[in-house]
Amino acid sequence: ATTARGLIARYREWLPVAPDGPVITLGEGSTPLVEAVALSELLGCSVFVKVEGANPTGSFKDRGMTVAVSISAAEGAQAVVCASTGNTSASAAAYASRAGMLPIVLLPAGRISTGKLAQAIVHGGKVVQVDGNFDDCLDLARRLADSYPVALVNSVNDNRLEGQKTAAFEVVDDLGDAPDLHVMPVGNAGNISAYWRGYRQYAEAGRATRTPRMWGFQAAGAAPLVLGHRVLQPDTVASAIRIGNPASAHLAREARDDSGGLIDSVTDDQILDAQALLASREGIFVEPASAAGVAGLLKKHAAGELDPGQQVVVTVTGHGLKDIDTALTRWTPLQAEVVAAELESVAAVCGLRG
Ligand code: F0G
Repeated sequence: ATTARGLIARYREWLPVAPDGPVITLGEGSTPLVEAVALSELLGCSVFVKVEGANPTGSFKDRGMTVAVSISAAEGAQAVVCASTGNTSASAAAYASRAGMLPIVLLPAGRISTGKLAQAIVHGGKVVQVDGNFDDCLDLARRLADSYPVALVNSVNDNRLEGQKTAAFEVVDDLGDAPDLHVMPVGNAGNISAYWRGYRQYAEAGRATRTPRMWGFQAAGAAPLVLGHRVLQPDTVASAIRIGNPASAHLAREARDDSGGLIDSVTDDQILDAQALLASREGIFVEPASAAGVAGLLKKHAAGELDPGQQVVVTVTGHGLKDIDTALTRWTPLQAEVVAAELESVAAVCGLRG
């Protein structure tokens, strides 16, 4: 028996994977749903955090990638391509290398965190730094896949959303039903669409008695779904969601409207404050973009727009180790002073008294 079975093994009957088709897995999925004690007290709700940084490459992208790459393998693909703000490319590179395919990744030059760039490189990706933003990269990736024999594994490939919907299944399987409210960051808008699909399918099949309201949060400098028009120069510290023209905008609006939910924005300061709160109070280190949902919850609570007593699940999408540069500019760096290797000196620096 193997412990790392992966989400295709767990949810195969719900996925468009052939019964005897190849499965490219790293044991993704089945991530922790952690009770957030401090947040619950602060918000007057019962809050759970779905920790997607616990996936093999450190983000929720692995859910979609195991399905997209497995199906591409069944179709005989030799290469995959994606545009990315960093996490999709890290995941695509890992799964494609495992499948013996060449991963081609198009990245906005100079706008990817170092950790994510390293992931694409070590997995043997053909890393192309494009002089443009994510939206330019996605346009190029689509055209490359149209004109050459490479499989597109961005979330415009519906197999990605199919894999990502399993996170909603897991929430229901863990809680026994859907929560009142599900909250998450929104960038290219694939993930909120995938969760909504998952919740709907489980409710239709009688696995849940209801669906949650979906609340999505974009960064204020990259909030096309809030503004109602594309943003030509998206700008935010949360580089993962620095996207001005979301590919799945129509599906995200559907999730928002059909669930009775909303899509709003949060400032960079609100995002970084939420990141700090998660790290210092809940023990959960996430990258900045991943904290947008928590930032949104705090914003709505402060505005008196979060009814107390609800059961709330908030997805944190990627691990904090993905982007340590941003974290280290915000937190106090290591103290400059080096302490002598003796007990009293160390105790004194720590403010300890015998
Ligand atoms: N959080 C993180 C950490 C992400 O990397 C992304 C998207 C999102 C949230 C938003 O999810 O796009 O489905 O709305 N990252 C993509 C990438 C764009 O290339 O890695 P979404």
